[in-house]
Amino acid sequence: MSETAKITLEGKTYELPITTGSEGEKAIDISKLRAETGCITLDIGYKNTGSTTSKITFLDGEKGILRYRGYPIEQLAEKASFTEVAYLILNGELPNAKQLQEFEGNIRYHSLVHEDMKRFFEFFPSNAHPMGILSAMVSSLSTFYPKSQTPNRPSKDVERTIYRLIAKMPTLAAISYKYTLGHPTMYPNNKLGYVENFLHMMFGLPTEEYVADPVTVDALNKLLILHADHEQNCSASTVRMVGSSQANLYSAISAGIAALWGPLHGGANQQVIEMLETIRNDGGDIQKWVNKAKDKDDPFRLFGFGHRVYKNFDPRAQIIKKSSDQILKRLGVNDPVLDIARHLEEVALKDEYFIERKLYPNVDFYSGIIYRAIGIPTRMFTVMFAMGRLPGWIAQWKEMVEDKEPISRPRQIYTGANQRNYVPMSDRG
Ligand code: CMC
Repeated sequence: MSETAKITLEGKTYELPITTGSEGEKAIDISKLRAETGCITLDIGYKNTGSTTSKITFLDGEKGILRYRGYPIEQLAEKASFTEVAYLILNGELPNAKQLQEFEGNIRYHSLVHEDMKRFFEFFPSNAHPMGILSAMVSSLSTFYPKSQTPNRPSKDVERTIYRLIAKMPTLAAISYKYTLGHPTMYPNNKLGYVENFLHMMFGLPTEEYVADPVTVDALNKLLILHADHEQNCSASTVRMVGSSQANLYSAISAGIAALWGPLHGGANQQVIEMLETIRNDGGDIQKWVNKAKDKDDPFRLFGFGHRVYKNFDPRAQIIKKSSDQILKRLGVNDPVLDIARHLEEVALKDEYFIERKLYPNVDFYSGIIYRAIGIPTRMFTVMFAMGRLPGWIAQWKEMVEDKEPISRPRQIYTGANQRNYVPMSDRG
């Protein structure tokens, strides 16, 4: 007999089905609860709510496990390329050589952006944040490809939109950077791999050939893989939610970029480096900043610490921490901010406040140090996160569409004023 949960309300007992995932995780299915009992469940911030079933990413926050399509993140970060992982996340299986070649060929084919789009860049203020530009530009892509705006397109059109997004995102990101410098923009070089091409568009100049350092390529490849998906996080849920209204995929991804931008989510990587620099400029008194983070009257938080689901360690942070030492050594970079990061981690991890709340360094704690070492400007860090997360967002959207999920529409418990009559202006005092 299948397992059920029992709930008693006003003396009456109801049985609710239990859904079990392939790793044994369980959920009480409450989808008929309101119809049967008149009650909804309340879970502000969805801390304990499963919004979907998914075959893409498995995560066990207590054990620090992260797998894409069953493959451990440690193995993928060590052995795979980003495009290989993107294919895996999107299609469910690792590609063979021919499939990968075809996948990369399709991405190369779409890497240019329409020349008219360049005019948009001219009108952003020179200090515009690149995440604001990226979100606007990705949404604008839908206006250049009107077929993408019609829901339920044939699969060939959807496929083309997916390739366009993966291909054009690095081009748009690099153009936004070049504009902030006032430098000429670089066209993609389709002889190069995905990561090399991005570095070429970021750091190349029309006057000389740019050759990417293999250590840099390797580091960036790893970081993009570590960011490629993270199940139902704030931005992925946003993409699924926007997509559930049948808005086009460009708009759903643009909304995902906006959600990622926040400092509690992907924007934390920029905040971490700015925080470490502030601590250094302030004299390097780590304990003072740890005390500030613990003080309930002080809004300051230790960026790069804590996670909604990881309550022991973030496996991505462990991989990055190990690589940051190696990469900095191989690049011959001596970053004083890394010493502050190490010291801060040491102090926080011994502190009762952080131990009690299970607050550990997350993926963003060390990623900025690597981005810095390879020359990515601080304000571009979250853009790098977005480039990495793109295959995950698309896969989450695709799964939502293929599973024919209904429009997302949570309920609420209303706590406002009861019905009252309109008061004319003259009687309002
Ligand atoms: N510094 C100080 N205190 C913290 C921190 C922190 N970084 N994170 C959580 N806390 C405290 C919080 O004040 C609360 O204390 P209390 O129980 O006394 O009220 C307790 O720990 C639980 O925190 P919460 O905010 O209820 O937990 P959450 O699951 O809602 O938030 C989080 C998770 C990641 C938003 C939060 O830990 C945070 O703000 N961290 C800093 C921002 C950051 O690094 N974000 C990147 C996350 S990893 C990248 C990604 O995938 O998005």
